[in-house]
Amino acid sequence: MCSGFAVLLLLLTQNRCLLGQMCSTIDKFVNVRGILENTRIKTEPFMTSRSVGLMSCLRSCATYSLCNAFNFQDSSGTCELQREAVMDENIEDFNGYLTSNLSSWTNKDINYCQNHMCGYNAICEPRLNSYICTVIGCFDSAEPFANKTTFTKKIYDFGDIVDTPCQGDYYTNVTVQCSVAGTWTPFTCYPYQQVRNCKYLHEQCNPTLTDDEYWLYPPSQNGVRTKVYCHNMQTVDPEAFITLNEHNFASKSIYVYDESCLKIKADDVTISTNALGVTAFMKINFAPGTGVVRDDYTFAITNHSVQSFGTAGDCVDDSYKCTPLGNFLINLSGTGLIVDPDISWVADSASSEVTTINDENRVISGTCGKGCSGCSPSSTIKLVPDPNNRPPIESAIRPICTL
Ligand SMILES: *[C@@H]1O[C@H](CO)[C@@H](O)[C@H](O)[C@H]1NC(C)=O
Ligand SMILES: *[C@@H]1O[C@H](CO)[C@@H](O)[C@H](O)[C@H]1NC(C)=O
Ligand SMILES: *[C@@H]1O[C@H](CO)[C@@H](O)[C@H](O)[C@H]1NC(C)=O
Ligand SMILES: *[C@@H]1O[C@H](CO)[C@@H](O)[C@H](O)[C@H]1NC(C)=O
Ligand SMILES: *[C@@H]1O[C@H](CO)[C@@H](O)[C@H](O)[C@H]1NC(C)=O
Repeated sequence: MCSGFAVLLLLLTQNRCLLGQMCSTIDKFVNVRGILENTRIKTEPFMTSRSVGLMSCLRSCATYSLCNAFNFQDSSGTCELQREAVMDENIEDFNGYLTSNLSSWTNKDINYCQNHMCGYNAICEPRLNSYICTVIGCFDSAEPFANKTTFTKKIYDFGDIVDTPCQGDYYTNVTVQCSVAGTWTPFTCYPYQQVRNCKYLHEQCNPTLTDDEYWLYPPSQNGVRTKVYCHNMQTVDPEAFITLNEHNFASKSIYVYDESCLKIKADDVTISTNALGVTAFMKINFAPGTGVVRDDYTFAITNHSVQSFGTAGDCVDDSYKCTPLGNFLINLSGTGLIVDPDISWVADSASSEVTTINDENRVISGTCGKGCSGCSPSSTIKLVPDPNNRPPIESAIRPICTL
């Protein structure tokens, strides 16, 4: 202990340069207790300044309650103030840097600011034989549901606004700004309401909302936040849809085969009497209470006759050995939902051939047909949460109830 201090004092008195700025000093500190050479703390500094000398970097650290250690780069005079003390776990080798705990230095080096009592949002300024605290910004918040990480990331400047002051499932209705007094605009973090469907959203939560994507909590999804498109929001009967990001279609093919398996268009009578056609779906109608997909073609495009979601068929002669022409594709990627795993695809009649490919109930495709029939789901298609493919939080609105 004594010898360490002796070396330090010796260096301080012998080397005038230390008390000034911008001089190469690292070499002379090699043996000083507490300084690690060619090393730095790798965590993000809460403050960085350039073109300062070692002593002024040290004193800068001493002025902040937040500062426990500093990195100093001799060649550039870069001074990085660190919240964490120097420890084996947070340092890395880095040529030209040195790092040191503030506690390794004496009051003599840092004037009256050692052990000062200034707040985290203030700096200590030495005076003749004491110090004063000068508020320089805002730091931390006492609001219990504030995002701590955000508020303690740095000392915010006067006038700074915090974008998302609350934790993930909370919101505030005020703009949270740092005042010149070093305090934040008073705010409360409220939990987001868990709205169950579009009708409730319009009638009981916020009547001004328009058709859009919203995060809702449909009873069928067991508390899982679900991305729902609310349609007809400014009417008495808003409805829920799921927006499909990928190609989704159902077809009862308007083509058939000739004897040599060459594809030819069926005649108009066959097309109309058997309701052949193809439907592409952009959104599907969703019942929030049950999770069921309803037959609805509001957001679909059809050629000839409409085809139900997840069905396929054709009027290929069932005596032909050609593969069926009807097909469907369900691709729920990016919706956050999958088809209930209990559902399978079954033949509509004894004549139909059914081939399906199912990828995690998220992407299901089928080739079905023969004899003016095909395949359809074993029961009404029901959607359940997709554990592995959630849409990004910013892709829909988290509604705030005003009623
Ligand atoms: C810095 O301070 C920490 C915590 O007080 C201590 O564990 C560590 O050994 C010190 N490191 C150096 C290099 O002085
Ligand atoms: C706090 O905000 C950061 C980003 O600013 C985010 O990554 C983190 O998840 C948030 N923490 C909580 C508890 O919401
Ligand atoms: C924020 O919400 C609170 C409580 O509902 C209310 O008293 C206050 O007026 C609201 N402030 C603004 C700016 O909307
Ligand atoms: C309907 O027919 C048109 C013209 O042949 C075609 O471009 C379009 O892709 C078809 N629509 C569907 C849903 O297959
Ligand atoms: C389904 O969508 C995913 C995501 O875009 C894509 O990678 C995949 O190829 C699609 N599957 C089919 C069969 O179209």
